Amino acid sequence: MVPFMDAKTEELRAAHDVLAELYAERLAGVMDSLPADQAVLGMFCKLTLAAGPDASVADVGCGTGRLLPYLAAQGLSPRGVDLSAEMVRAARRDYPGFGCDVADLRDLPFEDASLAGVVCWYSLMYLAPADRPAAFSELARVVRPGGYLVTAFKAGDDQVRRGGRSTGLGVEFDVYWLSPGEMERQVTGAGFTTVFWGGRPAEGREGSPQGYLLARRTGG
Ligand SMILES: C[S@@+](CC[C@H](N)C(=O)[O-])C[C@H]1O[C@@H](n2cnc3c(N)ncnc32)[C@H](O)[C@@H]1O
Repeated sequence: MVPFMDAKTEELRAAHDVLAELYAERLAGVMDSLPADQAVLGMFCKLTLAAGPDASVADVGCGTGRLLPYLAAQGLSPRGVDLSAEMVRAARRDYPGFGCDVADLRDLPFEDASLAGVVCWYSLMYLAPADRPAAFSELARVVRPGGYLVTAFKAGDDQVRRGGRSTGLGVEFDVYWLSPGEMERQVTGAGFTTVFWGGRPAEGREGSPQGYLLARRTGG
């Protein structure tokens, strides 16, 4: 049995199966036009590499895998996991040099303290409040002490919204525009210490401001 496959998770998974090809087409190469994303991910890569020889990181909720080559180009050894089998299929097709598997971030297929870092780029914003402490603990479980977590998220008022409608593909799911305070509470509550937080206003077609948080696993 797949853990956590409740009705909301199934709705989210099914929606992202439908969205996979749209994301593969729209998001490939978009990093080139996002200097803030590059700066924050670049900081994560530098700090992770400086922390020790182990460069294994996971892109958790990797979607179509667009960040995998970027992380590898900075010197890390990334692999991806995603809830949606269609996202994973697109990632394997478009970025075949990287490992990529179907998994729920609340039940990661990694040993305790086996990773130098985790990247959660717009993948934590679907977690309902009651699910957050266990989910962030699971992320902390797989990162070794002294390793790093970095996340980007739609920044807002912690209220739930219905996402997906604007794609016109007939999908909907719950999405939370988390306040930076709530994101930091969850990250630090799970055993990380904040290294950097930041944000920027919405640009182009983005519907919300964007938040960024980089944190170090305590104990290293
Ligand atoms: C907005 S997309 C971002 C994809 C990718 N990180 C990027 O920046 O292009 C969110 C991704 O998170 C995945 N996701 C959502 N909840 C998840 C969960 N509980 N476990 C694993 N992946 C999840 C979705 O399937 C989707 O591919």
